[in-house]
Formats: sequence, C-alpha cells, structure tokens
Amino acid sequence: MKVLVVKNQKDADRQGVKIFRQAYKHGARTFGLATGGTPEGLYRELCQSDLDFRDCIAINLDEYVGLDGNHPQSYRYYMQSNLFNQKPFAETYLPDGMAPSAKVECTHYNWIIATNPIDLQILGIGQNGHIGFNEPGTPFTSTTHVVNLTPSTIKANSRYFKDESQVPTQALTQGIGNILQAKQILLMAFGPEKAQAVKEALTGKVTEDLPASVLQKHPHVTVLLDEAAAALL
Ligand code: GLP
Repeated sequence: MKVLVVKNQKDADRQGVKIFRQAYKHGARTFGLATGGTPEGLYRELCQSDLDFRDCIAINLDEYVGLDGNHPQSYRYYMQSNLFNQKPFAETYLPDGMAPSAKVECTHYNWIIATNPIDLQILGIGQNGHIGFNEPGTPFTSTTHVVNLTPSTIKANSRYFKDESQVPTQALTQGIGNILQAKQILLMAFGPEKAQAVKEALTGKVTEDLPASVLQKHPHVTVLLDEAAAALL
C-alpha cells in the first residue's frame, strides 16, 4: 500500500489525475468510479484535462434505492453533471435504483463487473470506514447487494438533501468482493472527520467491522490524503 500525503485537496486532485493518466497509458480502459464529496475535485480536474475517455467504460460503486437518474441527489445525476456530460465514456454503468427486482439487478450488475474487469477503482471512505455503501459487518466476500443504510451514513449524506427524512434508507452497492477484484485501487480521503477511519483502515486490524481495512490485503492500493485526514497516522 502506497500512502501519499499532500498539503491540501487541490494537490490531491492533481495527483489523482496523474494516477488516471498513468493507468490509461498502461492500458486501463475500465474505471471504477465513486460519488460523494471526496472525488468532486478529481472529476473537475479530469474535466479540465486533455484525457479522453471515449474508448473507456465507467462502472460506479452504488446508487440509492428509489431514486431515478433524473433525481438531483441520485448518483447517476451526480456522475452525469460532475463528469460524464463533459467527458463522455463509451459506456457508463450504475446500479439501477428503480429496478423492479433488486435481486435481478444485483445479479446483472455482478455480470457487468465480471465482463468488464475494473482496471482502476476510485474509493472514498465513510466516517465509519465504509467503502461504497458497505457498512461495518459486511462480509469481505460480498458481491452487489441491497443495504440498509446506517443512521450515521444517512446523517452524513443528508447534507445533499433538504433534510434527513428525504435520504433514502437503502442503496444498491457493489460488494467488498467486487471491489477487491479491481486491479488497482485509489482511495482518497480529506478533512479531519476522516482521520480516525483512515488510521484504523491503514494501521488497524483487518476486520469486517471496518470495511476499508480490507484494502491492506489488496496488492495495488494508493491512498491519497490531505494533511488533516493523515493527522492520526
Ligand atoms: C457515501 C458513498 C461512498 C463515499 C462515502 C464518503 O456513503 N456511498 O462511496 O465514499 O459516502 O462520502 P464523502 O466523500 O462525501 O465524504
């Protein structure tokens, strides 16, 4: 695991673009993407870069159950407005939060990931150490599944909604088993509120109680932190 600590988020975003560029140069064409506040700056930098993703595939981690792609808080909407509208990809995939059968959708999404192995996966981290929407306790072998979001995740994500009651209580997420299949992983974390989770993920016990700790077992992980997120290391 390679840990890079930079002064601030802007520097990290630029570093992130370098990692994308290098991966592309080495043949990466399938990118695993994340949502949330963390990768917003990276996507801004990618939009301004000369990188061209028209021969690439994007596969996202997760989506809220019950929100369609036109809902401004859906992750499909987020991806369109933060990246895909400016930097088109050949194909883009997110789980369908409106799928009539979640079970069928999960099987379908696992098939998409298996058919298009992810070369570089971007990850953020929740304050409780979640990755994607894999909350503490999720088996490391899990594949795409429906999750009941924990009160702390609902609270953290309510900043994007009118109030907490508007936040969906469930999501579809790639499992930890899917995430571990990515050839390379870039985990980004910024700000003091992530410092504890970062410390436990990087230096603590590998345990399902802290999903991101599993990254210690992956052969090709880069962790990109600002000074605040790295403060407890
Ligand atoms: C959400 C997302 C995750 C994300 C995490 C952290 O729950 N499902 O993919 O990494 O929260 O979000 P943020 O980057 O906004 O802190």
